[in-house]
Amino acid sequence: MTDYMNEYCMHTATCGQLRKDNVGEEVTLTGWAWHNRDHGGLIFIDLRDRSGYTQIVVDPDCVSAADFEAAEHLGREYVLKVTGVVRERAPEAVNPNMETGDIEVLAKELTVLNTSVTPPFAIENGIETDETTRMKWRYLDIRRPEMFEALHLRHKVAQAMRNALNERGFLEVETPILANSTPEGARDYIVPSRPNPGRFYALPQSPQQFKQMLMVGGIERYYQIARCFRDEDLRADRQPEFTQVDIEMSFVEGDDVIDMMEGVMAETLEAVGVEHEFPLQRMQYSEAMDRFGCDRPDTRFGMELVDITDIVKDSGFKVFSSVAQNGGIVKAINAKGAGDWSRGDVEKLADIAAENGAKGMAWIAFTTDGQEKSPIIKFFTDEEFAAFKEAMDVEPGDLLLFAADKPEVANAVLSALRLHMADALDIPREGHQLLWVVNFPMFRYDEDEKKYAAEHHPFTHVLDEDLDKIDTDPLACGSYSYDLVMDGFEVGGGTIRIHNADEQRRVLRVCGLTDEEIDEKFGHLIHALELGAPPHGGIALGLDRLVMLLGGKQSIRDVIAFPKTSSASDPMTGAPSAVTPRQLKEVSLRTM
Ligand code: AMO
Ligand code: AMP
Repeated sequence: MTDYMNEYCMHTATCGQLRKDNVGEEVTLTGWAWHNRDHGGLIFIDLRDRSGYTQIVVDPDCVSAADFEAAEHLGREYVLKVTGVVRERAPEAVNPNMETGDIEVLAKELTVLNTSVTPPFAIENGIETDETTRMKWRYLDIRRPEMFEALHLRHKVAQAMRNALNERGFLEVETPILANSTPEGARDYIVPSRPNPGRFYALPQSPQQFKQMLMVGGIERYYQIARCFRDEDLRADRQPEFTQVDIEMSFVEGDDVIDMMEGVMAETLEAVGVEHEFPLQRMQYSEAMDRFGCDRPDTRFGMELVDITDIVKDSGFKVFSSVAQNGGIVKAINAKGAGDWSRGDVEKLADIAAENGAKGMAWIAFTTDGQEKSPIIKFFTDEEFAAFKEAMDVEPGDLLLFAADKPEVANAVLSALRLHMADALDIPREGHQLLWVVNFPMFRYDEDEKKYAAEHHPFTHVLDEDLDKIDTDPLACGSYSYDLVMDGFEVGGGTIRIHNADEQRRVLRVCGLTDEEIDEKFGHLIHALELGAPPHGGIALGLDRLVMLLGGKQSIRDVIAFPKTSSASDPMTGAPSAVTPRQLKEVSLRTM
């Protein structure tokens, strides 16, 4: 790599390349003046490029007067070309923290290729500059070594996946960006069409329908590093445009996709030096919800949810017993190490519970000096109290947190509290843990919209044994589905698809579409399924999330060259921006 970097360019070595072996060689380096120091007549410059940095010494006896003067007036981030001789540093000047710290380059010629005004923030790792400022001058931010590292890692991950997929016979095929709406659960970005007044494209939320069409088209194995667009509320792990490694295969069952993907993941992790055991654990969706309260469990630590509904269903604590008797559940987590927290600190946790829909958050603290503290102990009989102490494996120093509600709410509350307590108690979560969560329900009931919706997407094949329940008992239908989970994040998701037109119509009807709507929106898909569609299935990996986790970053913005802010804008280019009245007229639009 490094040698190649010295071809077709102005320099003969990169700034991170030179070692003791090169002493005596004449080299030409190019880069940015990083740190400049004037030491009694000698000028020292740390010259930086993407590969690292080298100390340049400018001695007035070794360069022309003009070059020395230029060196005296260098500003930060000036762009330089330096020719000089590599020499060994004096022992006291060796810098063991620097890869090129054994040598320096004594300049013979120094050319300022470009000047720079003072940068708005330091080009260093670990700066505390606010993110909007970094994004406004993103090109400077990208000059920081850790940003280069992140983009380099992203490249290596994408490249390893491409290689692994190429070796397995996959064909890289591009699909349209100007597309039609495909339901993945978010709002569409829409684009007007000038020749078709009043009609709009939708940017793809994923290439889902196109990749299925490719299977009907006989491609058999497809992949694409595909940009996807979703107008949804942004979080640290969501961007309005993001990248999927999108994959589809014909003549497969779920296990085939999972096994193939594990091979690709193993090669990818190896390429970036991350060790992980394969095959991966496969956890049923129902087990993930029972034990962790969510479908993307961080399994690197315990504090699992315990169902105590049976123990408290007849208790005198009406909050619990009434929920238990009305079809709800009562669950708890044991936060070991929080038993001595003050009442005030414990009660603040109720805010997290409330954010996740809880009506309250009961708790019991067991202090390290053997006391039991809680407003609710008095409601339980000794037997009930002993039973849930046993179920919860209680010891002094423990704090129990309870949620009583509908299963979805109780699980969401405790799942959020579990992660919060792991942070608050500094529970180690080192390394990476990948697992599959499999067999999601086919449908969920959307309380806001008052209708059924597909848990993954409506192209997912219903379990064969549940096919006769699609119309009569949708919530009882399982699906051929699998999510790849890493460190508590969903890094990938996929399903075996419906390849039968009748099943596709029935599923879309359950999702609330009339036959006319089905023909209008999905007629092309139904026709394709009627024309010899092979059994097929696939998966899409969230490249940004995967690289974020592998790079140890807190946000996917840190692994995207030009991300958007949380209000979906780009402070550098000013997008989204106004357009001229003429542009609007051309596409037959008026703004309000
Ligand atoms: P899904 O919607 O689960 O599936 O998306 C696949 C993966 O893409 C990533 N992802 C995101 N990453 C960043 N920002 C976002 N806004 C965002 N949304 C999703 C996640 C997720 O696991 N067509 C199906 C895949 C299939 O069935 O083959 C799909 O898009 O890591
Ligand atoms: P209350 O009887 O409403 O004052 O509640 C007594 C205790 O139970 C308080 O600590 C509440 O926060 C808690 N609590 C109330 N509702 C729930 C619930 N659904 N799940 C868990 N704890 C609850």
